[in-house]
Formats: sequence, structure tokens, C-alpha cells
Amino acid sequence: MPEKIRFMGSLILLMLLAVLLCPAHAQEDIVRVADRVFEAPMRPPVAFHHDAHNEKAGLDDCSICHHTYENGKKQEGSDSVGMECSECHFSKDRNNAVDLINAYHLQCNGCHASRKAGPVMCGECHRRR
Ligand code: HEC
Ligand code: HEC
Ligand code: HEC
Ligand code: HEC
Repeated sequence: MPEKIRFMGSLILLMLLAVLLCPAHAQEDIVRVADRVFEAPMRPPVAFHHDAHNEKAGLDDCSICHHTYENGKKQEGSDSVGMECSECHFSKDRNNAVDLINAYHLQCNGCHASRKAGPVMCGECHRRR
């Protein structure tokens, strides 16, 4: 009997590990973007159901949004998953060509406009709950 219990124990542990390590589950509770860098936000936080959004829009390449650049060129086959946008796009005085507000707006609205899908009006993203 102890053998069987130990076996079941390791099985459960393995399943837990698989769930924890699977990237599809790592960000499952992101439902809005509310960057801490905006200390006194003027607009309500942005509704963004990370996984559901990306599934519906067919975005399975993480680097579409979590990109990396070298010498001004977007790098294929590498991503910045795990980093926040604000680590690279903090503000104008960080000497970055794209400050944080523009980074979000260009990325989100840019794709919605070019695909003619997804919201582009302020109140559709910045929603009061
Ligand atoms: C496609 C979605 C989307 C649309 C449409 C959009 N925004 Fe945003 N906006 C964002 C995201 C994402 C952020 C970063 C969210 C955050 O951290 O609060 C942001 C941040 C901001 C910020 C900085 C944070 C704050 O609240 O002070 C301002 C100001 C802002 N947006 C204004 C606007 C205005 C004005 C419009 C319409 C002209 C607009 N946005 C349309 C997604 C959107
Ligand atoms: C449509 C754009 C988009 C795509 C595609 C996308 N993400 Fe994200 N992801 C975001 C945004 C926006 C945030 C919030 C960013 C922030 O807070 O700086 C985020 C946050 C995260 C976070 C939390 C980061 C943190 O430090 O808080 C993880 C983990 C993550 N994404 C993983 C992934 C993985 C894995 C994929 C590919 C399967 C992926 N993302 C695809 C836009 C995207
Ligand atoms: C590892 C650093 C890094 C991270 C993390 C990062 N970016 Fe960028 N991003 C860059 C660099 C470098 C450029 C090139 C322009 C420049 O020098 O600012 C760029 C360019 C952009 C551009 C303009 C070009 C384009 O792709 O349309 C947008 C928009 C943008 N980033 C949005 C975002 C958003 C939104 C996030 C978070 C989901 C993010 N970035 C995360 C470094 C980063
Ligand atoms: C590369 C393309 C792309 C990017 C980048 C992108 N979106 Fe979308 N988004 C879509 C598409 C396509 C839809 C429409 C999906 C559908 O309903 O079929 C959509 C729909 C939405 C919707 C409607 C509700 C929902 O979840 O389906 C919201 C809200 C939204 N996007 C917010 C954002 C925000 C905020 C960002 C930036 C952090 C962002 N999107 C970045 C492609 C994109």
C-alpha cells in the first residue's frame, strides 16, 4: 500500500508541475492592463483578457507583442516574455524612441486598425467597471 500512495503522490506532483510550467497557464489571470508606472492614471484600466484575447485573435507567437530589438531591428525567434513593457518603454526621458503610452497605443490600436478587428475607441478599451 505505501508504494501505491507514494506513486499517487508523485503523480499529483508531476501534474502540478506540468500545470505550473506550461506557459499557457502562466498568465491566465491577466484580465486588464494597468501598468504600475502610470502613478496617477487619467483613464480607467484597460480590459485585456490576455489568453482569451490572444486565442480569439489567433496570436500564438508571443514575440508579436513581447518583442526584442537589436540595433533598431526586431529580432525574429526571440521574445521578451517575463519582462514588462515598461522595462524598455518607460518614458521620454529614458531616451527611448517609443514612450510607454505610445508603445501600448501603437501596438494595440495599430493591430486593431490594420486588421479591422478589435476596439480603437478610447472608451472601448478604457472601461469603467
Ligand atoms: C486598443 C485599446 C486602447 C485604446 C482604443 C486606447 N487605449 Fe489608452 N491605453 C491602452 C493601454 C493598454 C494602456 C496602458 C494601460 C495602463 O497601464 O493603464 C493605455 C494607456 C493610456 C494612458 C496612460 C495611462 C493613464 O490612464 O493615464 C492614457 C492617458 C490613455 N491611454 C488615453 C487614451 C485615449 C485618450 C484614447 C482614445 C483616443 C485611448 N487611450 C485609446 C489601450 C488603449
Ligand atoms: C497581443 C499582445 C500580446 C501577446 C500576443 C502576448 N502577450 Fe503576454 N502580455 C501582453 C501585455 C500587454 C502584458 C502586460 C504587460 C505589462 O504589464 O508590462 C502581458 C503580460 C504577460 C505576462 C506577465 C508579465 C509580467 O511580468 O507581469 C506573461 C507571463 C506573458 N504576458 C506571457 C505571454 C506568453 C507566454 C505569450 C505567448 C503564448 C504572450 N504573453 C503573448 C501582451 C501580449
Ligand atoms: C526588451 C525591451 C523591450 C520590451 C520588453 C518591449 N519593447 Fe517595444 N521596443 C523595444 C525597442 C528597442 C524598440 C525599437 C524602437 C525603440 O528604440 O524604442 C521597440 C519598439 C516598439 C514599438 C514600435 C515598433 C512596433 O513594433 O510597432 C511598439 C509599438 C512597442 N515597442 C510596444 C511594446 C509593448 C506594448 C511592449 C510590452 C508588451 C513592449 N514593446 C516590450 C524594446 C522593448
Ligand atoms: C497583432 C494583433 C493584435 C494586437 C497586438 C492586439 N490585439 Fe486586441 N484584438 C485583435 C483582434 C484580431 C481582435 C478581434 C478578435 C475577435 O473578436 O475575433 C481583438 C480584440 C480585442 C478586444 C475585444 C475583446 C476581446 O478580448 O476579444 C479588446 C478589449 C482588445 N483586443 C484589447 C487589446 C489590447 C489592450 C491590446 C494591447 C495590449 C491589444 N488588444 C493588442 C488583435 C490584436
